[in-house]
Formats: sequence, C-alpha cells, structure tokens
Amino acid sequence: MGKYSDRLNKAPETYTFDDFLIQPGLSTIIPKDVTLNTQVSTNYKLNIPMVSSAMDTVTEAPMAIAIAQEGGLGVIHRNMTIEEEVNEIKKVKYANDLTVREVITIEPDATIAHAQEIMDMEQISGLPVVTDEDKVIGIISRRDIKPLINKHPNKKISTAMTEKVLTIPENTNPDEALDLAYENKVERLPVTRNNNELVGMVTIKDILERKKYPNAIRDKDGKYLVAGACGPFDMDRAIALDDAGANIIAIDSAHGHKTDIMEAVREMNKNIEADVLLGNIATKKAAEYLLKAEVDGFKVGIGPGSICTTRIVAGIGVPQLSAISSVADVCQKENIPVIADGGIRYSGDISKALCVGADAVMIGSLLAGTKESPGETTIMNGRKYKQYRGMGSLGAMTGGVGAGTDRYFQNGSNNNMKHTKLVPEGIEGVVPYKGKAPEILFQLCGGLRSTMGYIGAININEMHEKAELVRITNSGMNESHPHDITITNESPNYQPRL
Ligand code: XMP
Repeated sequence: MGKYSDRLNKAPETYTFDDFLIQPGLSTIIPKDVTLNTQVSTNYKLNIPMVSSAMDTVTEAPMAIAIAQEGGLGVIHRNMTIEEEVNEIKKVKYANDLTVREVITIEPDATIAHAQEIMDMEQISGLPVVTDEDKVIGIISRRDIKPLINKHPNKKISTAMTEKVLTIPENTNPDEALDLAYENKVERLPVTRNNNELVGMVTIKDILERKKYPNAIRDKDGKYLVAGACGPFDMDRAIALDDAGANIIAIDSAHGHKTDIMEAVREMNKNIEADVLLGNIATKKAAEYLLKAEVDGFKVGIGPGSICTTRIVAGIGVPQLSAISSVADVCQKENIPVIADGGIRYSGDISKALCVGADAVMIGSLLAGTKESPGETTIMNGRKYKQYRGMGSLGAMTGGVGAGTDRYFQNGSNNNMKHTKLVPEGIEGVVPYKGKAPEILFQLCGGLRSTMGYIGAININEMHEKAELVRITNSGMNESHPHDITITNESPNYQPRL
C-alpha cells in the first residue's frame, strides 16, 4: 500500500438522498399536529424549515414576501447593485407594514371644500387634523363634511372635526388595535408618540389582511423576516443591507472554507447587527475551522444543486447527506443552526436532510418555476416554463453585476468580460411553471408533516433525536418511485425526474 492507493482505499463512503430511506417507527403523532418551527440562525426562528435560494431566478422581494407569509425565509440574491438589493429588502420590510407612514393630513384652518377635494383625489374617507408640529388635534371624515359642503364650503375644518380622537401608541399589538377599532366603530386609528405626535395610521383593512397569514414570520417590529446575500469581502453591501433592516446576511461563496473568508466574515460580523450565515461548506473540518468566525449558522452544500456543475467541472464536492451530517455533528455541540443548501427534489429529501441534522433547507429549483420568482414565463410545446440558472452559469456571471464571478473566485471578471474567459460552474435552463410559491410550500410542508407522523416526531427536535435511516440499493430506489404505470394525472407533489 502506498500514498496514492491509500488515498483511494481509505476514502470514506459518502451518501446522498437516494441512498437512504427513513425507517417508520412507533407513533402516536398525526401529521396535522406536528409543529415545523426551527432555528435558522442564533437569533431567528422560522415557522417552517424552508429558505429560498439567493439566486437571480429565485429570490427577489415577491418570493421573500411569499415565503415569509408562509413562515419561511427568503434570501435576496446579490446579482444586482447594493442600492437595488437594499431596495428589495425595503420592499419586504414595508410589505404589510401595519402602520402607513406617509399619512395625508390637513390643518385645522383649511376649509371644508379643501378637505373634500383631498379625500376625492386620494380616495380616502377621513383625514387626521394636525398642527404645524404634527400634533393630532382632531379627525375629519366624509360624514362630518357631508352636511356642510354645499352651504358652508369655506368653513374651517376646526369647526366641523371630531376633537376626541382615538389614537394608539407605536407597536400596538394588531389584535388590540382591531378590538379597539371595532369597539369604537372606527375604520382607522392614528398612531402617535410622545405628546400626540402623528407617526402613522393603522386601518382595519390592513389588520384583517395581516390575519390571512397566521403562520407568517415577523421580526420584533412585526415586519417580515428577510435575509440578503452578500459576498464575503463586500463590507459595504453588508452594512447597507444591515442598515436597511435585513435580519440575516447570508454569505454567499462557493467555498467558505478559506482563511481570508473566515477573517473577513469575522470582521463583518462585528460591524453589523444582523445575524450572519456562512457558506457554503461540506466537511467537518470546514465547520470546525469556521467556528472561529463566530457566525450564526452554516450553509451546507457543494455541488448538490440541480443547476450545479462544480462536481463535474472541478471534480469537487461531497454527496449532500454526508455533507450535512458531518457539519451537523460539529454544529449540534455548539448550538449553531445548519441550513442544507441544494439538491432538494421532493419533500422526502427535506425530511432526510432534517433527519441527518439540518435545521432548515435552502431551495432553488422547486421555487424557481413559481409566479413569485423573477423572470418571465415562456411557452414551449404548449407548456409554460420559467428560466432557472446557476449563479455560476455564464448568464449569471455576465448578467446583473456579475456576482457569480466573485462567488466562484473569478474576480477581476466583470459583465463586459468575454464568455470565453470565464469557467462556469453552473448551467442555464428552464423549469416547468408551477403556479404560486405558497402552494409548493404547502406540499413540501405536507410531506414533511407526513414523515413526522411516520416516525412519531412532534417537532423538528424530536425528528433529530428519533430518526432512523435505512441504507437502500438502486433497486430499493427504483421500487420507491411509481413504476409499471403511465401517469395520467400529474400529482402536485410528484413529478418524474427529467
Ligand atoms: P437546487 O437543487 O435547489 O439548488 O436547485 C440550489 C442551490 O444551488 C447552489 N447554486 C449553485 N451551485 N453552481 C453551483 O455549483 C451554480 O451555478 C449554482 N447556483 C446556485 C446554491 O447554493 C443554491 O441555493
């Protein structure tokens, strides 16, 4: 035996999703009773263990809003300028913000006719009356104006307004606000601070809209949770995203196990308030080394993604279940969340990732073909499709701001660079259009709930503790897929592999 033959003979066996099944176990649990909440980073929990990929054909504000409404997390991609990414973060933060901040007001000396004019123009039915210092001193509604508008259009607002205004302080709980509005038969409540200073307005309509998403994941201000992707050396972007209110910064690199990345991210972490997820990694050694960066979670996956060619182009990677389990062994001891990134094709893959220690999964292709993903739908042979491309594909490296070049260490390249000087590690294609993201997430969660029922786990912690896997052969996998039948009605949670 010599050095080279040892390298082969002593190489560990590694596994991925199709190498195992989860063994059913004694259970009293029914799927509808399980809870799917999980820790995605030191300071943030999700209500479902799902995160959308930081890719330019997967996550911008519409996807991040949709997934947050269902209880998961969107990571805005970074193939755009800092200002554009900041803008996407802000769109998520302002979406369904209960308090409308730019309230249209009127002064007490304005006329009834003027109030009517504003209400007609802005299509609103009431205006807070404020002093020069923005202090609320009354409210005027169409009902107050109606009897006066014809006979006394020039009367001052102060003579017709309701002086006793029901206001609420900032951060009032939506249920309390709703009760108050119903009890007092008002449709809107001015939000004030200190000495009655107006800061916004809450309407019943917005509160009811919010109630449509009981599982939504929100930060302490009641706004949707959101993450922004950032290169490991891009301190300006990290700070800008942090200032814009991103809760989590997801460091986006094809190979996180690098000394300069560890140092840069440790520094970045000290300068921002947001939690930091570091990735991608695929080995125990990487996890142990990167503990020094003191980040809030690791992203695991080198080459499992549906659009990845890293394993083929560079011969590099670790099959995903082995990668997740080796990193999770380290992280469990340190209480650091693990996000399994890439390779999820079916809901059963999510369950397997969680069974080997992941706390959440990151999903690209399954969400790429949805209404909320960026890009247009195209029709080919009578079927609808949407574009899906790797961030290391030629298109992504030369489009946008060329973030892929930096993700794959081809710095110095830019979007004017000739295609022939780039070495892609991803491909571009299309995936079938799948309708709305919440419908996909519902099916993915449904599959996961079902797993938990089979193994008797009421929550993800119990899943981590109780799961037992069986190693299967190719024949075992073949038997697992539908066989000896022509599918006539496509199922919403199963498509044969292309
Ligand atoms: P899925 O399987 O969900 O994987 O489509 C999405 C994940 O793949 C990673 N990603 C890439 N990996 N080359 C790669 O090797 C690429 O061009 C590329 N683009 C994305 C990324 O981690 C994503 O979340």
